Amino acid sequence: MSKFITFEGMDGAGKSTHLNWFADAFRQRGLDVVVTREPGGTKLGEQLREMLLNQSMSIGTEALLMFAARLEHVEQVIKPSLGMGKWVISDRFSDASFAYQGSGRGLDWSKLKQLEEWVHGDLQPDLTLFFDVPVEVARQRLASNVSLDRFEQEQVEFFERVREGYHRRIRENPQRYVVIDGAQTMNEVKLILEKIVISL
Ligand code: TYD
Repeated sequence: MSKFITFEGMDGAGKSTHLNWFADAFRQRGLDVVVTREPGGTKLGEQLREMLLNQSMSIGTEALLMFAARLEHVEQVIKPSLGMGKWVISDRFSDASFAYQGSGRGLDWSKLKQLEEWVHGDLQPDLTLFFDVPVEVARQRLASNVSLDRFEQEQVEFFERVREGYHRRIRENPQRYVVIDGAQTMNEVKLILEKIVISL
């Protein structure tokens, strides 16, 4: 049976580093895997990503564009792929909107719930891997990046709220998540992911 798996975490938590390896581990077992990301994942979604990461805008606009990109992504990529029996692994999904636009920027959680219900009320990830790291660790990792996007340039307090937002989401629906301590070494994280691959 096909599965929809998402990777989440703060910028600098290390999720993107592990995602491709994780997908390859399933491919080696003969599964057809689609790797995708948010915001993005479709032609229009990637155009929206460009704006979202670089242009300043009001908080509401930011949330609506995230979900507009998501609607395209769900309809054009995620649902059709799952329908064909493929596995879909997405670098971020709606949890990021609750954490960043909701807790980070202060947008009403209930508005986001309405958008979530509208855009994918009938679809949730089967599993979400949340890479959790202390904010200082995440920021140290980002410090070596040459160019930082609009989110990555935010202050420590913003990221503290984002992290708390993720934890709030996890408390609401704990059975969907595996929390991974992203402060561990690459190899330690890989060992945990290998176990998850085998269990799936
Ligand atoms: P990210 O996965 O960090 O991209 P990269 O690894 O290339 O830097 O995602 C881009 C940013 O988008 C990230 O800072 C979080 C933000 N974001 C939101 O604020 N809300 C959302 O709903 C999504 C999907 C992402």
